[in-house]
Amino acid sequence: MSARLLDGKEVARRMHAEFVPRLQAVAGRRGAPPGLAVVLLGDDPASRSYVTGKRQDCAKIGIRAFDHDLPADTPQDALLQLIAKLNADPEVDGVLVQLPLPRGIDEARVLLAIDPDKDVDGFHPVNVGRLMLDQPGFRPCTPNGIVQLLLRHQIATAGAHVVVVGRSHIVGKPLANLLLNKGSGGDATVTVCHSRTADLAAMTRQADILVAAMGRPRAITAPMVKPGAVVIDVGMNRIGQTAPGRAKLCGDVDFEPVSQVASAITPVPGGVGPMTRAMLLHNTILSAERRLGLA
Ligand SMILES: NC(=O)c1ccc[n+]([C@@H]2O[C@H](COP(=O)([O-])OP(=O)(O)OC[C@H]3O[C@@H](n4cnc5c(N)ncnc54)[C@H](OP(=O)(O)O)[C@@H]3O)[C@@H](O)[C@H]2O)c1
Repeated sequence: MSARLLDGKEVARRMHAEFVPRLQAVAGRRGAPPGLAVVLLGDDPASRSYVTGKRQDCAKIGIRAFDHDLPADTPQDALLQLIAKLNADPEVDGVLVQLPLPRGIDEARVLLAIDPDKDVDGFHPVNVGRLMLDQPGFRPCTPNGIVQLLLRHQIATAGAHVVVVGRSHIVGKPLANLLLNKGSGGDATVTVCHSRTADLAAMTRQADILVAAMGRPRAITAPMVKPGAVVIDVGMNRIGQTAPGRAKLCGDVDFEPVSQVASAITPVPGGVGPMTRAMLLHNTILSAERRLGLA
């Protein structure tokens, strides 16, 4: 079997086209497009590259990006003051603080400082609670992007057994909650695995849809996959150097052998990554729409 490729780049491109009328409606009502404040502390190359991508996406579709690049030794109080200013700024619809933060800064405290109604990353405890309770809020971009990718490829989650490997706050747990919620893109039976799971392969082999979010290069091998399963590879592991400061990206799934067993599979890069970025744009537009009573 040779698996169908679930192309996230193509779906993200289609989503960008769908954003155009929404952006026009916001700009028409307010006289200005939605605005996203992106705060980056320090110079971690991976964080810098994510932030650059987000800012480029904003520029491409016409969201205003407000850049706040601060030194790694910025005191926590100064960061909290900046967030308070952004929360109060009517031109800012979304506030995103790029994680991880430098050592010495309390991440939980920083996330708590962001106005939940501008929390386009969906990491604020209020939005985590809204997700659990299936109430309107901001859904985290990577899990929401995975659900969109499945929906737009007509892969049914209702009644499917989804095995998620990884229980992080940004991918595994919120994805499990989204899939458990009732309705479109949900209604799945969900198993969540982690590093203490006994006999991981016995779990993954039961999956109709297998999601790998472990941060372990090529950890999911062909014998761990049920024939015909859908495989979603969230992993973005930087291995080797292709040029100074540039590493090659590798997923959590051993792509070639697994694509001989699976019915559908996401590539890395070009699968979940572009969907994550598209969902950030969606959340930023949604925030502006809500503020203007358009949503
Ligand atoms: N494509 C995207 O847009 C996107 C977005 C976010 C993250 N990512 C990538 O996705 C991967 C996961 O990210 P994350 O932030 O969720 O990572 P994380 O916070 O490090 O969590 C990794 C999870 O995998 C589990 N795990 C690690 N090794 C395992 C093993 N051998 N067997 C079973 N479970 C194992 C861990 O278990 P414990 O909890 O027991 O430690 C943990 O729950 C990373 O490669 C990251 O770069 C990609």
